[in-house]
Amino acid sequence: MAPLHALVYQSQATRPLDANDLDRLLLDARVANELADVTGALLHGGQRFVQYLEGTRADVEQIYARIARASQHHRLEILEQGRVEKRLFQRWHMGFATAPQTLVQQLSQSQWRREIPWLEDESAASSGLARLLAFWKEEAVLAH
Ligand SMILES: Cc1cc2nc3c(=O)[nH]c(=O)nc-3n(C[C@H](O)[C@H](O)[C@H](O)COP(=O)(O)O)c2cc1C
Repeated sequence: MAPLHALVYQSQATRPLDANDLDRLLLDARVANELADVTGALLHGGQRFVQYLEGTRADVEQIYARIARASQHHRLEILEQGRVEKRLFQRWHMGFATAPQTLVQQLSQSQWRREIPWLEDESAASSGLARLLAFWKEEAVLAH
């Protein structure tokens, strides 16, 4: 089996997106991600996005190239990427949550980079990843 790769980036919305815009975007994203076997989570808040993608490196790069072409956002910045041992969002071809602006801001500024190689050591290693997972756990529990 090919090694797993994860990538986190942040971006800014080019215009305010309403629920319909987001639904359409997610539908399209989930179909493409399922075909590519890419999983992850997307947070939106305060006109910013933070997205976590995981899969084989080739698949993640292919999906990221697709994402980078989307007109709804710009100023994409990769916060961190590297090899991971396992998937953290196994069940999500793209989980989505609207998060408080402060959280998205914190995540986009978190020490994704500082604690290399955070990805090898999962959640404990990066405060950014730990925050994302903590928020996601709450959301996932609430959604059930
Ligand atoms: C914030 C954001 C996240 C996205 N996530 C994914 C994704 O996970 N997988 C994917 O294939 N495409 C993703 N896309 C791309 C969309 O599915 C879609 O192809 C794109 O928004 C269409 O843009 P257009 O209106 O410029 O054609 C994403 C786009 C944005 C703006």
